[in-house]
Amino acid sequence: MKILVVNGANLNKLGSRDRDIYGDITLDELNCVMEMHVEDKDVELEFFQSNHEGDIIDKLQQTDADALLLNLGAFSHYSYAIRDAVADSELFAVEVHLSDINNREDFRKLRVLEDVVAGVFMGKQKDSYLEALDFIIAVFAQLSRFSL
Ligand code: DQA
Repeated sequence: MKILVVNGANLNKLGSRDRDIYGDITLDELNCVMEMHVEDKDVELEFFQSNHEGDIIDKLQQTDADALLLNLGAFSHYSYAIRDAVADSELFAVEVHLSDINNREDFRKLRVLEDVVAGVFMGKQKDSYLEALDFIIAVFAQLSRFSL
């Protein structure tokens, strides 16, 4: 199976932005950690990062992935356009945040993806991504068992 990992606005600055909140790891290192996490599994990861809402929408419209792992950055709180693209994709999608958005500024508590994702993993920095990967892989393993 193939999982498209989408990182949105400002996540290219990981490793240098707000390290107390987001951790020391760069985006390239995070992607490496994810690759290592799935290396013994039959899973392909594709990584996409953009600071541009339209580019993320274009990517979601063109993907051939089976599932989506999404950290949209601040787009998570207001981009109904990306939310619609996720819904239109009809793909199994999971939302991720490095930080605990429920214990920060109030504007971060609004999650526009809430009704189009199967779950949200947050507040554990890089481990939020690993937990989300494990969740997606476990759900697809169950599905393939049922379709045998
Ligand atoms: C974030 C949380 C968002 O509120 C913020 O705008 C980000 C990163 C996170 O991973 O914790 O850019 O999505």
